[in-house]
Amino acid sequence: MAIFDLTEAELRERSSMKWQTYPSDVLPLWVAEMDLAVHPAIKAALLTAVENGDTGYPVGRRYANAFRSLASRRWGWEVADEQVRQSGDVMNSMLGTLQTVSEPGDAVVVNPPIYPPFRTIVERYQRQLVEVELTADGRLDLEGIAAALAGPAKPKAYLLCSPHNPNGTVHTSDELSALLRLCAEHGTTLIADEIHAPIADAEFTPVLSLPGGERAIMVTSAGKAWNLACFKGGLVVGGVQTGEILSRLPAMLLQSMGHIAAITHAAAMNSALDWVDEYLLEVRANKALLADLLRRQVPGARYTPALGTYFAWVDCSGLGLANPAGHFLDKGRVAFNDGATFGRQYGQWVRINLATSPQIITEAVARMAASLSG
Ligand SMILES: Cc1ncc(COP(=O)(O)O)c(C=O)c1O
Repeated sequence: MAIFDLTEAELRERSSMKWQTYPSDVLPLWVAEMDLAVHPAIKAALLTAVENGDTGYPVGRRYANAFRSLASRRWGWEVADEQVRQSGDVMNSMLGTLQTVSEPGDAVVVNPPIYPPFRTIVERYQRQLVEVELTADGRLDLEGIAAALAGPAKPKAYLLCSPHNPNGTVHTSDELSALLRLCAEHGTTLIADEIHAPIADAEFTPVLSLPGGERAIMVTSAGKAWNLACFKGGLVVGGVQTGEILSRLPAMLLQSMGHIAAITHAAAMNSALDWVDEYLLEVRANKALLADLLRRQVPGARYTPALGTYFAWVDCSGLGLANPAGHFLDKGRVAFNDGATFGRQYGQWVRINLATSPQIITEAVARMAASLSG
């Protein structure tokens, strides 16, 4: 039986952001929620906690240990207990780390198109945003990054998204090693968000596992790969020479993980990895389906499937629309993420969430095509 087999009617019963933001005639394939059920092991852990009234404060290292076990099984990466801090979620972990290694006014490098909160935690917290765009083929622009790190702004931190959201690039170990060397050379702290790592449908290298990763910091959680965003929990993992940074992380960040988050995220990492591998096959098929449907029905759209995510990053500049995402929403009644939210210059792109059924993807493309012919 397929994992992404929930019907539109079942999904419309949900009360979270993906299915409730737009009116009921809009088909939503936007925000990073997956259209699947809760894994039986996670559900059992949650129900047991609720039945036992186990709804107090968290204690112990359950989540940290589950991640260490996952890292060893998934990537052959051994992480020591003292390298891991438990926290409230991923973006607050990245923000808390950024605040620990930089001051207001300091420069911070990001690579557009990028998950929007990366820019938020730089700009809204009075840091100076230094943007080095990905190359035309969606990879890290190592020359551009080298120039930015060597430039007069002297960036204190570099925010890496690995794999990259929205375009799904899985960075190679050579690229990551080069990045680590550049950061070491310029005294820039590399902070990597690896929340999408378990979803990578390709060889994935944790940046901290590489030589040079000793001074980098990584943030992650089970929120994405197991669709547990409602249970706020996260992890900060430091390279072996980051003890001093870890010791200065904001105290309230380290006190913000919920007990049920620890229970559910740990159950996911310990007992639900099988599902990720199973649904990845479905996501892979969904990417092929989308590519085929677009080729036949919306030939002006350009899409190259990527391995690091369940999103499709689609270039609509061939369609002659002022605002593709707005057009598809207004005229097609189908919601995608507007590329402009990932960087001002990406207004001709849309991000499509493929963690859903083939039927919903087929209907979404039919709506795109109808909106163009109508
Ligand atoms: C790259 C990336 N980081 C972080 C998050 C959100 O994590 P959290 O809700 O734990 O802050 C997402 C969610 O889509 C994401 O794609």
